[in-house]
Amino acid sequence: MRLILHIREMQSWSEAERRAGKRVALVPTMGFLHEGHLSLVREGSGRADRVIASLFVNPKQFAPNEDYRNYPRDFERDRALLEREGVDILFHPSAEEMYREGHHTHVEVEKLDRFLCGAFRPGHFRGVTTVVAKLLNIVRPHVAIFGTKDYQQLQIIRRMVEDLNFDIEIVGQPIVREKDGLAMSSRNAYLSAPERQAALCLHRSLKKAESLVRHGEREGGRILSAVKEELEKEPLARIEYVSLCDPRSLEELESIRDQALLALAVWVGRARLIDNTVLTA
Ligand code: PAJ
Repeated sequence: MRLILHIREMQSWSEAERRAGKRVALVPTMGFLHEGHLSLVREGSGRADRVIASLFVNPKQFAPNEDYRNYPRDFERDRALLEREGVDILFHPSAEEMYREGHHTHVEVEKLDRFLCGAFRPGHFRGVTTVVAKLLNIVRPHVAIFGTKDYQQLQIIRRMVEDLNFDIEIVGQPIVREKDGLAMSSRNAYLSAPERQAALCLHRSLKKAESLVRHGEREGGRILSAVKEELEKEPLARIEYVSLCDPRSLEELESIRDQALLALAVWVGRARLIDNTVLTA
């Protein structure tokens, strides 16, 4: 695996591969990798001749009060994991190179960024779409792979790619979970042992909703109450939001007709955890 630190070098490598007729996949990450990230890499390997993983903790998607400085980092471990997966290129630019002095251009997807996490993290998705647009322009992949763990992020990226005519296929991959159901996340590293136990309430509450829907419940209000009740049983957890919405527009739903996204954000200690499931009537 080759490590590329500079934008120019990344661009010329990709250009050469494209010219040679190779199909290129990109897996963007912020590192501190886990099986969720690696599942995206494997999907990329299945869909392309060359796989590039990017590792860049993007300062623009963190608000000043958020965890940019403390975001978990372990470059050598990440490098070894990607090498073992057969990744061709690890692209790891510096923040100075990605955002040169005088950088004033941002990409903003309106409307979709008003719901769910967007309502609580102003500017977050603008930071995400700006960096993803840059990565897509630098790497120029044929396909880019994202997780549905960050469901809203995936929808917003799909919208951006469509609206700005990026000629790139966007692929969404299912949430990878620990054996006990906790969705894998780099931020799980913040959890103490009791908090790690408490964090299971997210998955438990989603399961409860799935079971209600399986038994015929369609009423949004009753599903949300049951989910909140489950989360509130856990004293170490603090709900940020629980939302039942249209899986495409992300607009709130009063009841489930065919499919609904149930998404939640919950604080456990200093970790802000998110999880979701698509409920099918
Ligand atoms: P990061 O949180 O590192 O996640 C990188 C990718 O891994 C995202 O597409 C995310 O949805 C996916 N992912 C994370 N946990 C997962 C899990 N348990 N199962 C499956 N996929 C999972 O998301 C970002 O970084 C950044 O916002 C980024 C897109 C790189 C832009 O900076």
